Parts: sequence; structure tokens; C-alpha cells
Amino acid sequence: MARVLVAVTGGVAAIKVPHLLRLLRAQGHEVRVLASRRALEFVTPLSLAVAAGGEVATEEAWFRPDGRALHIELARWAEVVLVAPATVDALARAALGLADDLLGATLLAGAPRVAWAPAMNEAMWLAPQTQAHAERLKALGHALFGPAYGPLAALGEGEGWGRMLEPEELVERLNAFLTPKDLEGLRLLVSAGPTREYLDPVRFLSNPSSGRMGYAVAEAARDRGAQVFLVSGPTALPDPWGVEVVRVESALEMRRAILDRYPWAEAVVMAAAVADYRPAEVSREKEPKGEAEKVVRLVPNPDILQELGERKEGRVLVGFAMETGEGLERAKEKLRRKNLDLIALNWVNREGVGFASLENEVVLLARDGRVWELPRMRKRQVADRILDAVKEFWKA
Ligand code: PMT
Repeated sequence: MARVLVAVTGGVAAIKVPHLLRLLRAQGHEVRVLASRRALEFVTPLSLAVAAGGEVATEEAWFRPDGRALHIELARWAEVVLVAPATVDALARAALGLADDLLGATLLAGAPRVAWAPAMNEAMWLAPQTQAHAERLKALGHALFGPAYGPLAALGEGEGWGRMLEPEELVERLNAFLTPKDLEGLRLLVSAGPTREYLDPVRFLSNPSSGRMGYAVAEAARDRGAQVFLVSGPTALPDPWGVEVVRVESALEMRRAILDRYPWAEAVVMAAAVADYRPAEVSREKEPKGEAEKVVRLVPNPDILQELGERKEGRVLVGFAMETGEGLERAKEKLRRKNLDLIALNWVNREGVGFASLENEVVLLARDGRVWELPRMRKRQVADRILDAVKEFWKA
């Protein structure tokens, strides 16, 4: 967790900053807030102060009679500065190194890491001057979060590029920005979610996988600098930013998508709950309802992970084992048979973990016999532990 200075400049999106401040604090970040004069035309100092849990740094408070200079103090305090919303003017001034306002002076006084959340009219964002300033800031090591495409605030502008990212996404981006890039260069293929095996156009066999475990692996790897390709079965989760995503439905479609990307990948994490069987016959028309019993003949689906294991060629392969009983011996058998480096054993019948929950309880088994029994933790933390092991095998 970090000491975050949120710098607010004058745009309509400033009204979202109190929510952003609350989210940052809820994640355990320490926050302070700096507001430009124009920002305070959109949001009051009191709402910012309450959400930040402390005073707002303003132009008026810059130099104190006791000799304290706020720009120096803030630059030394902050581990990261997030300018949100960032106006076209704020970007330009920072790119030029101007320091006749509190934000400019704080940035020049040595603020260590800086991220910008631009918010402006589309034409202003796309103007060559603004683009040049954005490039200049990137060259200085600053991060740009957005802008997003969507409805713009000015009357009659409709939709366009220039909308500030929503506070939830800004927090995710900031966390990613602060994460050490220890998987830089890794090309990781991840699968997530269930598959659907259709009987007819409206009926299918599936399972309760929500995709959370696999998405957590994809997001954690992205934050740690990996290039990530996610093959997802049907889920209600939005595509994670910064990850290439392909959506599939059946096990056969998932197999095709994974095999297509396999030559590119250096490591694979199979978190998908792939259906082991599919109906032998699929009706093109919706089957009418009837009173008589019906028997559905099922045929086995290919085991995707086993196929990957057969053509491993130096890749790191990670599987999951979903078990009901003790499961340890079965997980070990899957590890061997599928030629894996690591398998994450989890359970179907334990309350609050496994399918669809936010947490998981996992035992990691490595091919060299090492075992890590992880306590119950959030899926994102489980993902990081799996990736720590992937890193070790990848670097070996
Ligand atoms: O999506 P969530 O709601 O977050 O839930 C996460 C999860 C419980 C689905 C996940 O943690 C998990 O355990 N995924 C694997 C479930 C599973 O299919 O386990 P299995 O023991 O049947 O399969 C072993 C491994 O072989 C798995 O990596 C699986 O992806 C793979 N497999 C299985 C069958 C098949 N036909 N092809 C495969 O590649």
C-alpha cells in the first residue's frame, strides 16, 4: 500500500474524486489531496477533505507564515501522485515543466511516480499538442490511465474519447502501476470459466464456475508485467483491461482457441472448469417438452491440458484439480499424467471457497515434490502465489 497524493484539476469529473479517495483508503492506501483553484469550482474542499480524511492542499495554503512550503512537503510525502481528473492544461504545463502553481511545483520538487487520468473533450485530447505532451510525460516515466470512450460532459458533445476512467478502474490501474514487474517478458496463456455443452439451442450442460479464479490469475500476471492472453468460457465478468481476451462457449471451442495460442505461450494456467462430456447429438431445433423420460447420450470431451502436456516443449504448465474428497493422491496423479509443473488442488464441497466465491483454499503441488498448503485467501492472493511458482519454473 502506498502514500498517494491525489491532485484534482478543473474538470467536471472532479465530482467523482471523493468516491475515488474513499476507494483508495478502503484498499489501505494513505491519501492526501491537492486541488487546483478551478477544481474547487466543481467539488468543494469540504467533500474532498472528508473523503480524504484530512486537509486539502490548495493554492492559498501553499506558502505558510511559519516557512513551510507545501510543494516540498507533498513531494517528499507522496510515493505516487495521481492527477485525476487531469485537464489538457495540467498535462501541458507538466510536460513543459512549469511550476507557477502548487501541482506543477510539487511535480518538479521531486514527486517520485506520477500517473495521469485525462478528462477532456475528444478534439482537445486528440489535438497534436496534447498528444505530444502526453508522449513527453510517458517518456519521463509517467503513466497515463485512459481516457476512456463514452459520453462526454459538455452539452451536445455525445460520445467520444476523453472521458475519465471510472474511480474503480483508476484504483486498479494505480495498483498495477505500483506492482513490481517481476514477470516482465512472460507470455502467459490463461483459461477461465465454465464451458457450455449444448443439447439444443437453449439447453446446455455446464457448471457453476464464475471465472473469478482464472481472471484473478490473468489480472495479477498483467499487473506484474506479463503479456496475457485469456481464453474465457461464458462469465458475467467484464474483460480485464490490458489483457487480450477471446470468449468461447464449448470445450471444443476452448480447445481450438487454446491450441491456436499455444505456440506463442511460455506458460499456461488452466483454471477453466472444462466439461468432461458433451451430448453426442445436438438438436438444431428446440426440443419440445414431453411427458416421457429422456436419455441423453454423452461423449467425452478432449482433455485440453493433457494435450498441452504432450507437446510441452519447455513451457511451464499449471493445472487445477477440483476434488470432493481428500483429493491429494488424485491431484498428484493429474500432475504426473498431464505432465504439469504445478497443480492447484481445491475443493467443490467446502463452504465459501472454490466455485463462484471470492476466496479459495488451495494446496499447491509441484512436480519436484514440494507442497504449499495455503490458508483461505482472496483469489487474487492465490493467483499471486501460483505466479510466484510459475516465475520460479520459468526462470529455471
Ligand atoms: O471460476 P471460479 O468460480 O472462480 O472457480 C474456480 C474453479 C473452482 C473452477 C478453479 O479453481 C478450478 O478448480 N478449475 C479447474 C476445475 C476442473 O476442471 O478440475 P479437474 O480436476 O476436472 O481438471 C483438472 C485440470 O484439467 C484443470 O486444470 C482443467 O482445466 C483441465 N481440464 C479438464 C478437463 C478437460 N476436458 N480439459 C482440461 O484441460
